[in-house]
Amino acid sequence: MTLRHLLVTGGAGFIGSNFVRHALARDSAVRVTVLDKLTYAGNLANLADLADEPRYAFVQGDIGDPEVVDQLAAEADAIVNFAAESHVDRSIDAPDAFIQTDVHGTFVLLEAARRHGHARYLQVSTDEVYGNVATGSSSEDDPLRPRSPYSASKAAGDLLVLAYHATYGLPVLVTRASNNFGPFQYPEKIIPLFVTNAIDDEPLPLYGDGQQIRDWLFVSDHCEAISAVLERGEPGEVYNVGGGNELTNQALTNAILELLGKPATLIRRVEDRPGHDRRYSVDSAKLRALGWEPSQSFEDDLAATVAWYRDRDDWWRPLKSGEYLDYYRRQYGERLANSAMVD
Ligand code: NAD
Ligand code: DAU
Repeated sequence: MTLRHLLVTGGAGFIGSNFVRHALARDSAVRVTVLDKLTYAGNLANLADLADEPRYAFVQGDIGDPEVVDQLAAEADAIVNFAAESHVDRSIDAPDAFIQTDVHGTFVLLEAARRHGHARYLQVSTDEVYGNVATGSSSEDDPLRPRSPYSASKAAGDLLVLAYHATYGLPVLVTRASNNFGPFQYPEKIIPLFVTNAIDDEPLPLYGDGQQIRDWLFVSDHCEAISAVLERGEPGEVYNVGGGNELTNQALTNAILELLGKPATLIRRVEDRPGHDRRYSVDSAKLRALGWEPSQSFEDDLAATVAWYRDRDDWWRPLKSGEYLDYYRRQYGERLANSAMVD
């Protein structure tokens, strides 16, 4: 499938901005238009190096706004939808925006793709839709058992997307990726939060017993996976994307501290996240059959990521101000006041 003009929604966020760079570098004939609302998580600094790129355009707007979406969809031949409220803790605090963007926004995009006869619609989804995975790994046709407002809103989006294939024949694809890490991740997620806090000798708030397991996927491997699915995926199908790097949060935290040469005394055990899923794990065999594999070593990728944040405090320091500080106080103030050091 040759695509010439991608509408990338949520392209000013963490994974979206990495994908825009990846897509433009991969194919010199491709054009990319980014539609992004620039919420607290959207940041034009993530795309600053593309300012003079003639094949790239940026439009600020909401995927829930049918007028702007219709206009941009008319010029594109595919939509890759990254736009979402993406942070579990914020969904527990205030779920409304998650329903608006992750469910209703997805619906508005699907309607536009249908009206304009798009060649592809790709929904960037998450392994969290499968819910807690005590043993083994989820495959694409496992039941969806989301347990947070975030993962429930993503699961609802997935179901709408798949319904548009069954009902209208829209050539949709869904990817469900595990936890991403890499450059330009907003410092609310565990890796950039703990790295930037540790750089400043601030405490690292580890939830509960720290034995929860996540499977870490380097963001460039995720971008490769999305390209593989766009080009070679079967319309109507779902593809899991796992990094194959399952780690407890405690082990991840120790690795970060070691890379920065900081002491374990920075770690604080704090009150757990409500409904905290203990483990996610996906089976990516279906995607590997398309020729994709995660290409890099976790230790090297984590070291490169930590080095990126160490070198780029010009990027993250301005983010840790204003609304971020209100959020941080709400999320961690009481928890840190009642916290314990790890022995
Ligand atoms: P992010 O929070 O960094 O970025 C989200 C982007 O979407 C921001 O630029 C924001 O401004 C934009 N946005 C939010 N609401 C919008 C709206 N109504 N209209 C237009 N733009 C809007 O998120 P991320 O971590 O880059 O995640 C991107 C996508 O990948 C999400 O759909 C998320 O569910 C999915 N995902 C993330 C991970 C991960 O580990 N981060 C893993 C699997 C899947
Ligand atoms: O699995 C894919 C998902 O990964 C994506 O769909 C989400 O968009 C993305 O945010 C991420 O969700 P998580 O909840 O797994 O990511 P987060 O970085 O918030 O948390 C990772 C783990 O670290 C989780 O077990 C909770 C724990 N944690 C997190 C924070 C922010 C802590 O112990 N302390 C913290 O302060």
